[in-house]
Parts: sequence; structure tokens; C-alpha cells
Amino acid sequence: MLTQLPRGTKDIYAPEIYGWQWLEEILRNVSHIYGASEIRTPIFEHTELFVKNVGDTSDIVNKEMYTFEDKGGRSITLKPEGTAGVARSFIENKMYANPQPIKQYYITKCFRYEKPQAGRQREFNQYGIEVIGTYSPAADAEVISLGKEILEKLGIENVTLHINSIGNEESRALYHKALKDYLAENYDNLCPACKERYEKNPLRVLDCKVPSCKDIVDAAPSVIDYLTEEDREHFNKLKEILDSMGIAYIVDPRIVRGLDYYTRTVFEFISGDLGAQSTVCGGGRYDKMIGETGGPELGACGFAIGLERIMMILEKNNKLPEPKNKRTLYIGSIGEAGFLKSQALAYALRNKGIAADCDIVGRSVKAQLKYSDKIGSKYSMVLGDDELKNNKAGLKNMETGEVIEIELDKIAEFFLK
Ligand code: HAM
Repeated sequence: MLTQLPRGTKDIYAPEIYGWQWLEEILRNVSHIYGASEIRTPIFEHTELFVKNVGDTSDIVNKEMYTFEDKGGRSITLKPEGTAGVARSFIENKMYANPQPIKQYYITKCFRYEKPQAGRQREFNQYGIEVIGTYSPAADAEVISLGKEILEKLGIENVTLHINSIGNEESRALYHKALKDYLAENYDNLCPACKERYEKNPLRVLDCKVPSCKDIVDAAPSVIDYLTEEDREHFNKLKEILDSMGIAYIVDPRIVRGLDYYTRTVFEFISGDLGAQSTVCGGGRYDKMIGETGGPELGACGFAIGLERIMMILEKNNKLPEPKNKRTLYIGSIGEAGFLKSQALAYALRNKGIAADCDIVGRSVKAQLKYSDKIGSKYSMVLGDDELKNNKAGLKNMETGEVIEIELDKIAEFFLK
């Protein structure tokens, strides 16, 4: 156990980490272009926040939360998703007093006790965006366009956008009734989990991946046929705006999402490059959450992207950038004076922003140069008594093999020019 990761978790380190840093930079840049600022909420919250918002009929709350009692006897949960924490912070910090809407993004770890498989972990990373303070379908279109922009900037193709509307309470009550009536006729053929969903939240049945349920779901009534006039108008306007942006979508009445807080718009970006876990991005509108959590009544929408899934797609399609050659100069040394000069020079060059390295192991000069080659230094040099006496050294370009003479106090200038 001492040297084994907990199931469903991963270490991320070089060279893979460079891909993650590149990805995060793109996420931050695109978020900035869309006017979103970063928010960092705690990795754990009071359990009731998730129970209330994500909902007690969701798989997340029922089966997947990492919940524990802290030493003060409070029930604490590691965040299974990012939206509820952002909503809590929005209310607690009275962000509603600022000009609306508030657009915030996050890159965070999430925790769900799920059965690990490709693209599904127990600890995973999400990028998310939350726009709070507007009921307009233009906000739905804006977050969707942000999702599309991110996927494009990453060079990800073979992704389709699926959109749906599950309406507000009134539409949903009508649809629940129709769906329940339909499911009642097929009740005996539902899987055991769906029999329970039938009682608690029949919408969840539409999400079931069990083949026998899928057949039943395929013939189920469509939520879109039960939308009220206002909900239908919202959905039509969203489609109109997406059309005007030139963003292609599929209206998919089976998209209902696995969290209870959604109202009206729900959407997913689905990749053809992943196996069973093909949803790279999921989101929608949650117009009740801010009010029901204790804040003012305010509309909101957002989405989250699973970053492990993004990395899987990028890897599969060779879209990850080459790891950056991080080292600029290796300063080898012979003898004590050369050793001391190499340490001082590395320190001085690093201070000027040059990625320099020197021997801190006590290797022979031959081993030093071998090491310099292995870590991919662009240039190398060796300092010995002669170099110190002449204040000059041979600077070798490791790619071309070319060597130039350089004065020791001109090295910084050479790299900074
Ligand atoms: P979600 O669909 O539960 O939505 O998760 C969003 C994305 O996180 C999924 O599409 C998937 O890519 C990734 N994901 C989920 N579970 C795992 C897992 N176990 N391992 C790896 N990746 C995973 C939400 O979390 C909502 N908070 C999204 C949202 C924001 N809606 C409105 N605002």
C-alpha cells in the first residue's frame, strides 16, 4: 500500500505534465477572451450543499460522494463537481451586488467514488465555467460557444454538440407524467436501478446505459413535446443564436444529464474518439440553484469539461505539443575552482531568467556531459582552470555540434539577445 496509488487516481508528472500545463494555459486564455475570471473554491464543502443542489436522486449523491465526518463532527464532502461551490461562494460573497452577469471559470480536482475505467477516475480534473445573473438564452449560447472554442483551440475534432431542453417545473411535471405512464407499461423490463429511478426521478431512466433499458428509452416520449410555451421559446431562441453563430448541433431529447439542478437547456459535447465515456463536456442552465441555496432568484448556466478525457483524445490523435526543451545551458566543471565558478555562474544566469544547470552530484566531467545530453540541454560548456584563467569557454550547441568561444561574463548577453 505504501507505494500504491488509491484506485482511480493518477500521478501526473514530466513529460506528461507539460501537456497539462499547455492545456491549462489554453483554458485560461480562452476564458479570459470570454470575460471570465478565475474562482478557486475549497476542495471540500458541507455535505448538505451537494445533497441539496446536485440532488438526492442523482447517482453522485446516492453512491459516489467522498463524505466523512471531521473532528468537529461536521459532515464534509470532497467536491464531486464545481457548480455548487461556485454558487455557494457567489451567495456568501454577495457577488450579486456586482454588475451581472458574473462569469467565472475554474480548473479543479473532483472526487467521485465510481468504478474506474478509461476516462473515468475517482479523482479527476475538471475545467468549468459558470455564468450567473441572467435568464437569457444568449448566455446559454455564449457558454456553448466557449466550449466549442476551447475544443477548437485544442485541435479536437470529431466532436458533436447535443442540445436539449428539459424545461422548467411546469414542463417537467407534464413530461414526468407522460414518461411515468409510458414506463409503467414497460416496468417489468426495466433494470433494477431503473425500477427505483421510476419511483424517485423517472427522467434518470433516460440516462440508463443498460441495453434493455436503452430499447425502452428509444421509444419513450420526447421531453421537447411537453415544453410550455415559454420554455419552448427559450429553446428556439437558443437554436436561433447558435445558427447565427454557425455552431452546428443535434437536438437530442435523450440528453437529460445526471444532476438534479438543471432547468431548461442541457447540452453535451460528445467525442467519437472515446469509448463508453464519450462525453467530454456537459452543462446546462440551473435557474433555481442560487435562489434555493439562499441567494436572490437569479438565472445561471455553465458547463464542465473532463480534462482526463481531453488528454485521452489529444494523445490518441497525436495532438499534444512536444514537451518543451526546458534546459538552456549545462555548465560542467573540472576541479574545485571550476566547480565553484559553475555554481556561481548558474546562480547568476538563473537570476536573469536563463534555465541553466550545473553539477550538484559530484560526477566526473564525462558523466556530467552525458547527463547534460540526457536532460536535453541546448548548450553546454565545461569550466576548468584554463577557462577561468582566460575568462573564456567553448559554448557547444548540442543540436548542431558547433562550438563558439565566449567570454564568461558575456554568457547572459548571448542567451538574452
Ligand atoms: P458532469 O457531467 O457530471 O457535469 O461532469 C462534467 C464532465 O466531467 C463530464 O462530461 C466528464 O467529461 C467529466 N467527468 C465526470 N465524471 C468523471 C470521472 N469520474 N472521471 C473523469 N471525468 C469525469 C458537472 O460536473 C456539472 N457541474 C457541469 C456544469 C457546470 N453544469 C453547469 N455548470
